[in-house]
Amino acid sequence: MVLAVPDEPARGRKPVLRDELAAVVVKQQDPPERLRIICYTKWAMSLVNKRIVVGLGGGIAAFKTVELARILMQRGAEVRVAMTESAQHFIGPTTFSALTGHPTAIDLWDKSYAGEMHIDLAQWADAIVVAPATADLLARAVAGMANDVLLATLLCANSPVLFAPAMHERMWLAPSTQRNLQRLLADGANIEGPVRGLLANGQEGMGRMQEPALIADAVEELFAETRSLSGKTILVSAGPTIEDIDPVRFISNRSSGRMGYAIAQRACRRGARVILVSGPVSISPPGGVEAVQVRSAVQMHQAVKSRAGEVDAIVMTAAVADYRPVAQASDKIKKQTGGMTIELERNPDILAELGKTRVGTTPILVGFAMETRDVVSHAEAKLKSKRVDLIVANEASVAFGGDHTQATLVSHEGNQPLAPMSKRELAERILDWVYSRIK
Ligand SMILES: Cc1cc2nc3c(=O)[nH]c(=O)nc-3n(C[C@H](O)[C@H](O)[C@H](O)COP(=O)(O)O)c2cc1C
Repeated sequence: MVLAVPDEPARGRKPVLRDELAAVVVKQQDPPERLRIICYTKWAMSLVNKRIVVGLGGGIAAFKTVELARILMQRGAEVRVAMTESAQHFIGPTTFSALTGHPTAIDLWDKSYAGEMHIDLAQWADAIVVAPATADLLARAVAGMANDVLLATLLCANSPVLFAPAMHERMWLAPSTQRNLQRLLADGANIEGPVRGLLANGQEGMGRMQEPALIADAVEELFAETRSLSGKTILVSAGPTIEDIDPVRFISNRSSGRMGYAIAQRACRRGARVILVSGPVSISPPGGVEAVQVRSAVQMHQAVKSRAGEVDAIVMTAAVADYRPVAQASDKIKKQTGGMTIELERNPDILAELGKTRVGTTPILVGFAMETRDVVSHAEAKLKSKRVDLIVANEASVAFGGDHTQATLVSHEGNQPLAPMSKRELAERILDWVYSRIK
């Protein structure tokens, strides 16, 4: 028996309402005796009656926007599409007209349209999502240009706007693109992605457009209760630290940084200024955060301490090494006969120091406790000894590496065990907690 979540509901089957789990058993043809359980909460009608303008810039990822439009419609939204001229080199407007049942807006000067198409579209929209958002399109949006129907619509927008950038890594990392991104965020736009992965030319890198279903989730969030953190500054520490023994060897741990990066991304989405102090990880910082890269616990200590005075909350997800070698050899240590002992000394306890030196209740302090046993009782002890506000307790075997985890929120008000969930969802729960204290 296979438990599967397919990408789309079978033809003619009715989508279900959010949180309503529909499980249907379908006879599978190959092999005929196998049964397949299909859970389709994915098609929750969460965007019912929402009017979404989907805009396309001229990038290879434009073909994925067909899928995005389809998902938005499956979730109940009414969709209209606007394309730049460049976008039409990558996909035809007819595809979207057929899909949405409405003409695709491609020409500001369309003689058949009586009125001002861009103004009508902007007024009609409850939200605008631009996917793919090219480097050029972001630059034009920052400059307030209105030289095609999509840019003119964006300039008239009085509803939330979400950009899903997609481009080659070098375009993404160009200072001008990063500057434009900051400006758009400051102007109130939302950014989803990009992510690291295979790019159009077959190279691996940062700049791949976020997957359509996740862009659709981000569109949904535009309509969610805001729980805004705008005007607040949140520092998040993430990843492992590395304690060098010699130029080629070190002591570290298996932290992937995913939890901290998820919190940084979600806090940024809620409008906070986010400082992400990160040890070495293989994932890229989310767009819009101020990333501070460190290596050792001592460097992380300095980076956090020097910024603690300017922030409203600190969320320490980093797996900071408790000990470091007393001495770091400047040359590779040579093999010797017999055993070897490395003398270690204590690293600063960053969280405890923040708790001890804090005056009043600002910044709010959130720590993580990862244990292999007695997880909650260790977290309760940590909450008191480090004088912090919240400890997120989780077990090492479920928390390390993957995208999912299971945690208990341990605070002075009591313990709140949470169901297994994605790190992204846990990030939201932690930020909800911070939001309730920060106001
Ligand atoms: C084959 C091809 C692929 C391209 N892919 C991208 C891309 O993924 N992202 C991007 O920012 N620009 C890409 N460009 C460049 C844009 O198409 C170009 O900057 C264009 O002016 C963007 O127009 P727009 O502002 O309407 O999006 C590509 C160009 C070509 C010829």
